[in-house]
Amino acid sequence: MKALVLSGGKGTRLRPLTYTTAKQLIPVANKPIIFFVLDQIVEAGITDIGVVISPETGPLVKEAVGDGSRWGAKITYILQEEPLGLAHAVLTARPYLGEDPFLMFLGDNLIQGGVKKAVADFAREAPQALIMLKEVPDPRAFGVAVLDGQNRVVRLVEKPKEPPSNLALVGIYLFAPAIHQAIERIRPSWRGELEITDAIQELLHLGHRVAARRIEGWWLDTGKKDDILEANRAVLDAYAKADIRGEVDGSSRITGRVEIGEGTLVKNSIVRGPAVIGKNCAVVDCFVGPFTAVGDGSRLFNVGIEHSVILEACELKDIQRIEDSLLGRNARVCRSGDGRRALRMFLGDDAQLVI
Ligand code: TTP
Repeated sequence: MKALVLSGGKGTRLRPLTYTTAKQLIPVANKPIIFFVLDQIVEAGITDIGVVISPETGPLVKEAVGDGSRWGAKITYILQEEPLGLAHAVLTARPYLGEDPFLMFLGDNLIQGGVKKAVADFAREAPQALIMLKEVPDPRAFGVAVLDGQNRVVRLVEKPKEPPSNLALVGIYLFAPAIHQAIERIRPSWRGELEITDAIQELLHLGHRVAARRIEGWWLDTGKKDDILEANRAVLDAYAKADIRGEVDGSSRITGRVEIGEGTLVKNSIVRGPAVIGKNCAVVDCFVGPFTAVGDGSRLFNVGIEHSVILEACELKDIQRIEDSLLGRNARVCRSGDGRRALRMFLGDDAQLVI
């Protein structure tokens, strides 16, 4: 069994961060999302992994993920020249996939508890596809499945205006090689993409069996800023450890599960977990609240912050309260101290500032 991780795409909804990095490399709990994906794949016993990359961000993904030895896996990179859809990514990977069954995992998705059980069920029951479904309040932005009384998939629709159910397709799928014949038979959708939802619907047309599993735990699809914050929250909640490697002075108080990296100094501050502060940071006269991740080399002085993701080498100074924020590398947020109440901004393209 192989795995195919989709790490191409444009990531337009995460600009400006995706002008300089791949969406799948944005960290949650200070670790790139795709690393969690690879952890879950290897945990399910799959070590032959293809990673679909784009010409724009592919080199960055390659540099971060390498040859897979970090996971004891063998990684093959597959260049998709244009992001023409999830089924197009499978088509592009066809020479790599051959006639093997495979686990397809979107490089920006994660589910609680991983995929070990689904992979074992697929191997045992041998359907042509196994999809995962999650009940969502508003399914209009997703692929949506309709099941019959015995939980068999009868119909799938991509981003329906009037959803026939509230079961959204999670970005993790298991396929037998029959999916390739289905992909050959479909045409691009109205948005010009070869949709995997249409290919699975085609499998049903061809009389193949498509199994479904409902997932009860969290499903993270990190397409937008608030999704990254939610992923950071869920991952810190599930995985943060109490692990202090840096220096914490006597007037600081650390409570709950807090990770503090080597070379970091925490002085006269309160840090409440779950939270993670990277290596070589300075946190002085601060309150760092739950669900915060601070990247390596960042410097925080006289700041209150919670439920936020701060990437590497940021500087935050004299700000009473920062919440629900996502800052890219080297961002600087400070108070001028000149008594004037003006905001002075130097924001990148597509940046957002909420006052
Ligand atoms: P999407 O989030 O649907 O698309 P996107 O990454 O282009 O983002 P946006 O809509 O904000 O512009 O993609 C889901 C995942 O699949 C993501 O990890 C990127 C990957 N992908 C590919 O590898 N190839 C493709 O052709 C597409 C459409 C997505």
